[in-house]
Amino acid sequence: MGTWIATAEAHPNIAFIKYWGNRDHEARLPSNGSLSMNLAALTTRTRVAFRPDLSADRLILQGREVTGPALARVSRVLSLVRAWSGVARYAEVRSENNFPTGAGIASSASAFAALAVAAAAAAGLDLSEQALSRLARWGSGSASRSVPAGFVEWLPGTSDEDSYAVSIAPPEHWDLVDCIALVSTEHKAVGSSQGHRLAESSPYQAVRVADAPRRLALCREAILQRDFEALADIVELDCHMMHAVMQTSTPALLYWEPATVRVMQAVRRWRTREGLPVAYTIDAGPNVHVLCPRAVSEEVQRRLQALPGVQRVLASGPGGAARLLSP
Ligand code: DP6
Repeated sequence: MGTWIATAEAHPNIAFIKYWGNRDHEARLPSNGSLSMNLAALTTRTRVAFRPDLSADRLILQGREVTGPALARVSRVLSLVRAWSGVARYAEVRSENNFPTGAGIASSASAFAALAVAAAAAAGLDLSEQALSRLARWGSGSASRSVPAGFVEWLPGTSDEDSYAVSIAPPEHWDLVDCIALVSTEHKAVGSSQGHRLAESSPYQAVRVADAPRRLALCREAILQRDFEALADIVELDCHMMHAVMQTSTPALLYWEPATVRVMQAVRRWRTREGLPVAYTIDAGPNVHVLCPRAVSEEVQRRLQALPGVQRVLASGPGGAARLLSP
């Protein structure tokens, strides 16, 4: 039996090779493998308490009770934990981010990674990292990548059993910094879960998916060799391939704002004309993640902050694995 209560922490991650589209939407079996870096400076802390007095699961986010689809998604993961452990109780889940919510930084990855680790421990399950990554995947695909440490690859697999993420290098391997240029803090119109369902409607998705193993190999190699130029090329190509799919799906998704494009063009100029090691990538939103080595990160942050339309810049180096906190 479990201790009934456990608390865990996890970091969000930024994908260098993107996850977009599922073969199975319910189990979140992705159309292609993906690769990311955890973000040390951003953290979600989640406490799970299985209680005998509850008649349903409860979710409290940043101190506020949440119901509806967000609660249903959390319950889905809790129900798997109940099925695997034999625990029959409902749970109260309290989750907090150390980064501004609604600032346009996706928190589902860190949220479901922390939930998986805390819920499994509270129910007395002793799960391997792979099993925790699979469990997190049911809540949010990218959460599978927030379970292992540092630079992480999600192996797409063929079924629930073999679709999980593994660390390809620890956080100390390469001191890269993600400088996140926030250009809008508005809530996005179409979230990623809905977006994944539209991917197949783009004629470009099949091409993007077929070419994914090649991009993954190039990205993996660039990370292992700490080759920034190679990383920059493949990360920007992969970002554009995903946004090409988004922009050509039905209905079309156009996440970029004018300031997004301004940042993209500035980053390209800095790299190609001035030789500054910088590269951009963009998720399902308008904010731009600008990657660079630590040595130039202060300079990059200063430059980003000075661009019109950039409201704020957050910076983070590579982060560790999702972890249980002592009770
Ligand atoms: C564009 O993991 O947020 O950030 O599984 O529905 O929660 P759900 O989707 P999510 O999708 C991430 C999409 C992305 C690319 C990436 O992180 O790989």
